[in-house]
Amino acid sequence: MNEKNLEGDMMRHRKWWEDAIIYQIYPRSFKDTDGDGIGDINGILEKLDYIESLGVNTVWINPMILSNQEDNGYDVISYTKVDPLFGSEADGERLIRALKDRGMRIIFDFPLNHTSDQHPWFQEALKGPENPYRDYYIWANGKDNRPYPNNWTAAFGGSAWSKELNGDQYYLHLFKQSMPDVNWDHPPLREEMAEVLKYWIGKGIDGFRLDAFIYIDVDKDFPEHPDGTGPGQDLNENGEKIPDHLSEMNRSIKDAGEDVFLVGEATSADAELTQWYTDPENNMVDKIITMQYFPEKEDEKDDAVPGGKQHAPLDLKAFKEVQKTFQEQEGEAGGPVLFWTNHDMPRSPHKYGSASPEHRDNTAKMMAVLLYLQKGIPIIYNGEEIGMKNTAFDDPGNIPDAGVMDFYQEAEKVGWDHNKIMGHLNLTARDVGRGIMQWEDSEKVGFTDGRPWALYNRETKYNVEDQEKDENSILHFYRKLIELKKTQLFQEGAYEMLETKDTLYAYRRTLDDKEALVCCNFSEEEDTIEIAEEWTSDHIVLENDGNSLEGGRLHLSPYGAAVFVKDE
Ligand code: GLC
Repeated sequence: MNEKNLEGDMMRHRKWWEDAIIYQIYPRSFKDTDGDGIGDINGILEKLDYIESLGVNTVWINPMILSNQEDNGYDVISYTKVDPLFGSEADGERLIRALKDRGMRIIFDFPLNHTSDQHPWFQEALKGPENPYRDYYIWANGKDNRPYPNNWTAAFGGSAWSKELNGDQYYLHLFKQSMPDVNWDHPPLREEMAEVLKYWIGKGIDGFRLDAFIYIDVDKDFPEHPDGTGPGQDLNENGEKIPDHLSEMNRSIKDAGEDVFLVGEATSADAELTQWYTDPENNMVDKIITMQYFPEKEDEKDDAVPGGKQHAPLDLKAFKEVQKTFQEQEGEAGGPVLFWTNHDMPRSPHKYGSASPEHRDNTAKMMAVLLYLQKGIPIIYNGEEIGMKNTAFDDPGNIPDAGVMDFYQEAEKVGWDHNKIMGHLNLTARDVGRGIMQWEDSEKVGFTDGRPWALYNRETKYNVEDQEKDENSILHFYRKLIELKKTQLFQEGAYEMLETKDTLYAYRRTLDDKEALVCCNFSEEEDTIEIAEEWTSDHIVLENDGNSLEGGRLHLSPYGAAVFVKDE
């Protein structure tokens, strides 16, 4: 190690999560063992060998705590009880222990912005203004003879206010009527939230995803939305009290676990905001999950139809700029979180790449190479590693995601036919990415003996069993990729994006004498990248199908990708 590195190393203690490779498990859809058609804790336990075999070292599990299940776990009834839907308290303990025994870290979801209206705190609060839990939530009176305190709408539809049954006040719910926002201005609420974290840290949890935390500082003047009516979230995101609230929480959990990893979900955060949230001086969160990674070609959308549920291709130029900015900005701090897909969005290779049978494998492999060998922390969403595609709804009425029916009606009005509308919805509604895990090519794909709770695809080849047998499968490719990602060069090496045309994506990683060159073709056309002649086929450590190298000219197949490493 040279002196410069030694100095750098002494200055900054490397945190465990900088080397994390995270596997996201959506427990409902992972593996069912009791036949109710919904995945469970025993299902995760059954598949631990599989999870470990991927090479990941951390799992993030979506909420399994007691919930009214109107928002699949994000509408919490108890922050510390395991939902019997997923198993018993003992099952929960067994899962934590089993993961620990395998040397893995565990991240839990922490929905801290709202609870279910069935949460005992809210049930108490409903008893009236004198109840000690009243201030755990946010209340306002009706105003100006209108049925609501102001014109805010909720993210999942309707007004952001609902009137209490036995009184005259309204409670705030920025997401959904049955999910009242909690009041972070109220110290006892903040203390309870910190206690929740301490409880789970005591049980062995290593980190938390702070769900929708950017809304916890609500403007109590309740200003009207300037558009006449509009999302309450617009006026209440990224409030100035968030640093105080989170740093207080962090101080109070410090004794329970110094090394706890906090990753905040901030869907609208650009690079600047991400920096603010992750700046150690501000003591808020370690990393941010933003949905701003995926800029789409807005000019290809039809202005007459709402944009949110309209599909458009990824804007590769803008995507590269976003990636470059995040890589450069967060380079020193181990890089950003890297992900293509999660439970709130459709599966990306299918959405932004090619789902045609001839390109499907290359697309999945290339997209993984492109993103995950950059600097940062990969989050692989269950099923991604076998190239699962989205599920397809026929009837908009069966899609729970908000805004679907409005979109359908608006699109119909301007003459879109049913198939066209569903084509869009099946690439934009978050539910299409929540299909059950395809373990094998059988009637219920090895997920359950019962009736699966969600739609699914039964496919030969795109299931774990078939891919285990095929050395060239996406699954085996992911394993090799993860192995590579674990090497010091890809963990710690410097990053430099190379100038290429928009449909190509190339970068270098360097560390001391080691160097890697990563080249990807994000298009359906073959293409060529000129690379230095010193790179030969002997340096290729990973590639997908159909590429070739001729004296410094790297021919990439449609959705081709090749990774070169020089280690001397
Ligand atoms: C987050 C979750 C999402 C949930 C929402 C409300 O965005 O990821 O699934 O619906 O918060 O809790």
